[in-house]
Amino acid sequence: MPITNEEESALNEHFVNNSYVEGFSLSQADQFLYKKFTSPPSQDLQNLQRWFRHIASFAVENFDFPRCKSSNLAIVSNGIKIPIIMNGTEENGIQNENEDQSITEDIVDPWNVQASSNKGIDYDKLIDRFGSSRIDETVLQRFEKLTGQKPHHFLRRGIFFSHRDITRILNLVEAGKKFFLYTGRGPSSESMHVGHLIPFIMTKWLQDVFDVPLVIQLTDDEKYLWKDLKLDQCNKLAYENAKDIIAVGFDKNKTFIFSDIDFIGGEFYKNVLLVQKHVTFNQVKGIFGFDESSNIGKIMFPAIQAVPSFSSSFPFIFGGKKDIPCLIPCAIDQDPYFRMTRDVAPRLGFQKPALLHSTFFPALQGASSKMSASDENSSIFLTDTANQIKKKINKYAFSGGRDTIEEHREKGGDCEVDVSFMYLQFFLEDDEKLESIRKQYSSGEMLTGELKAELIKILQKMIAEHQERRKAVTADDVKNFMTPRLLNFVVKQ
Ligand code: TRP
Repeated sequence: MPITNEEESALNEHFVNNSYVEGFSLSQADQFLYKKFTSPPSQDLQNLQRWFRHIASFAVENFDFPRCKSSNLAIVSNGIKIPIIMNGTEENGIQNENEDQSITEDIVDPWNVQASSNKGIDYDKLIDRFGSSRIDETVLQRFEKLTGQKPHHFLRRGIFFSHRDITRILNLVEAGKKFFLYTGRGPSSESMHVGHLIPFIMTKWLQDVFDVPLVIQLTDDEKYLWKDLKLDQCNKLAYENAKDIIAVGFDKNKTFIFSDIDFIGGEFYKNVLLVQKHVTFNQVKGIFGFDESSNIGKIMFPAIQAVPSFSSSFPFIFGGKKDIPCLIPCAIDQDPYFRMTRDVAPRLGFQKPALLHSTFFPALQGASSKMSASDENSSIFLTDTANQIKKKINKYAFSGGRDTIEEHREKGGDCEVDVSFMYLQFFLEDDEKLESIRKQYSSGEMLTGELKAELIKILQKMIAEHQERRKAVTADDVKNFMTPRLLNFVVKQ
C-alpha cells in the first residue's frame, strides 16, 4: 500500500530526531520504506525529503543494505503507527529472520522509547542491559533510616527503580557529609506535560529530605542541534520552562537553574574541554549511534550534559572544590550520557556521579510508548483546563476494562495495561486507597468510568495547583534562580 499524507507527516516527525528508520543505522528497513513511495514526498516535509534523497543516493536496487537490528519494526509517530513489514522476501529481496510482526526488543535511548508490549518496557531486562542496579528493599530501608520518613512513593512503587552508586551517597549522608543534586530538561516545547514533572518531583523530595544544593541544566543548545527549531526560540523556551520548574517548589536559596546558551563559559567550559579531549568520536558513536552525517554539534554535546556532574563547574557554589559528590535523578533514557560521564570522570580526577533512574511516563494510548509533547492527544499538559483533562482521560486513556459491563463484572479489569491505573500509581499518594482501587477494579466491582473519575479528580486538582503556583512565579524569581550565586548550605568533607 502506498504511503498516505498522514503517514508522510508522521514519518517527517520521525526523521527530525532519527537519521534512519532504525534510529542511527542504515538498514533494510530504509530500503523497504523507500520502496513504498510511488513518488517523492512533499517538498514541505524537509526531514522526510532529506531521508528520501539520502536513500535514493544508494541506487536502491543494487545496494547491499545492512540487516535490520530488529526483526520486525514499526515507526510510531504523531500518534499513528506505520508498520515496516519486510516479509515479502522474493519480491523485494529483503531478508527477514522472524515472521512475528511486532517489535521484539524494547528500544530505549535518549531519542527513542518504544516497548514491544503494551505492559510497557521490561525494566528488569533494561537493568541487565544497562548494567545498573535495582532499587531494592535494602536501599529503601536505608532511605527510611536516614531520613526518618517513609521513602517517597515514587521510590516505594518502583517508579524510580534503578540506580548507580546510591549506596555511596547514602554512606556520605550517614557520615554527616553533603552531596549535590543535578537534573535537567531539554526545552523543546512551551507546553510541558505531567510526565516531565516526574524527575523534578523526585528531585524536590530529595532536596527537602537531605537539605542539599541543586543545579538544573536547561539544554536549549541540545534542542537547537536536534530539533527543527530556531536558536532564539530554544533559548526562550528555556526561560518559559524554568517557570514550570520553579513552580514545583524548589528552595531558591539552594537551587541554581541555567540555560546552556547563556551560562556556558569559564570553569564550566574548562570542564567541557577536559571531557572533549578525553572522549573520542568512536566512543560517542558507540554510545549514541552518531555517524559521519551527524552534525558536529551533536557529536560534542554529550560533554556539555556531562560536566554539571562535577562540582568544580560551579565555583560560585562550591568554591572551586572538585570532589563534592553528585546525585542525578533522571529518566532511564538519559543513562547513556552518564555512562559516558562515569567512564571519563576518574581519568580527569573527578568523582563518578551517582544516579537514580525512573521509568517512563506512559502515553494515554498505552504503555508501549511514553508521553510525548509533540503529540497533543497522547499527553496531559500542565496548561490543560479541568475540562480538557476530563475529556482526554475519558476519550483516550487506554483501558484494561472489558468490552461489556457483564464481562467486566465477571472477569474484572486488567491493571497491568490500564493507563488510568498506571497514572494513579504516579499521583495517588495514599497507598491504602490505591490498593483498594486495584482490588475493586481487578475484581470487576469497579468499572472503567469510575476508575477514570478517580484519576480525573486527582489530576484536575494537581494541575490547577500547579497553574496557581506557576502564575505566582515572577520575572524576578526567574532571574534570581538563574543568576550564578552562592547557595546556602554547609559542606563538611
Ligand atoms: N537531555 C535532557 C533532555 O532532553 C536534558 C538534561 C540535561 C537532563 N541534563 C540532564 C535530564 C540531567 C536529566 C538529568 O530532556
